[in-house]
Amino acid sequence: MRKKIVAGNWKMNTDLNQAIDLAKGIVAAQSNSVAQLILCPPFPFIQAVSEVCKSSLIAVGAQNCNKNKNGAFTGEVSVQMLVSLGVNYVIVGHSERRTYFNETNQELAEKVVICLEQNITPIFCCGEQLSERNNNIHFNVVQTQIQEALFQLNAEEFSKIIIAYEPVWAIGTGVTATPAQAQEMHQFIRKVISENYGKAIADNISILYGGSCNASNAKELFALPDVDGGLIGGASLKVTDFISISASF
Ligand code: PGA
Repeated sequence: MRKKIVAGNWKMNTDLNQAIDLAKGIVAAQSNSVAQLILCPPFPFIQAVSEVCKSSLIAVGAQNCNKNKNGAFTGEVSVQMLVSLGVNYVIVGHSERRTYFNETNQELAEKVVICLEQNITPIFCCGEQLSERNNNIHFNVVQTQIQEALFQLNAEEFSKIIIAYEPVWAIGTGVTATPAQAQEMHQFIRKVISENYGKAIADNISILYGGSCNASNAKELFALPDVDGGLIGGASLKVTDFISISASF
């Protein structure tokens, strides 16, 4: 059976004390969620959040990594550094990184490889802009993102990936994809994977939905046959909302 996952992407929010309080609140309130919960704080707070999560089932992820192993890349953070902090997941290719930091599918392909080399699970983000959906090219856009960034992997490597479908127009806007739109795209992504890697692998890949997913709509979205959980931005910054989302299966 596919793993259910709820990951919180805190983005560039919280200070150290707020990060610790948020993590502590989530650890204290977590029920027996069927999902793997993952907290992705900003880089400087990863160690503190890892410490809080250490004795719980909650995992820690990062929001980005550099594609190089180490070296003269001032200001950057390597996967090896993240491993040494107890990180098990890295969000790769979030639309904000694609938009504001010009990350390309080719560069993301390299990030995915270096994560897998270090036994880190990439949470690979894909999703179309509103104009692309309006022009009816959203399926092609998402297919290309997945093909260019992931299909260089062999089957064994690919089976370790988590995919997050995040329509860009739904991120931080309060406009959520309708259940029909989400299911249609998730099913399409699974079909694309199946055509390349076979049905068994496609059936086992967790595909998360992200984009204004909150405590009110998570249940409906997570009940969809091809939606295996969520990548949560704004609503992951409130303990009660995040816990309620994680219990929405
Ligand atoms: P949002 O962000 O839940 O605030 O829309 C989701 C994301 O960017 O991962």
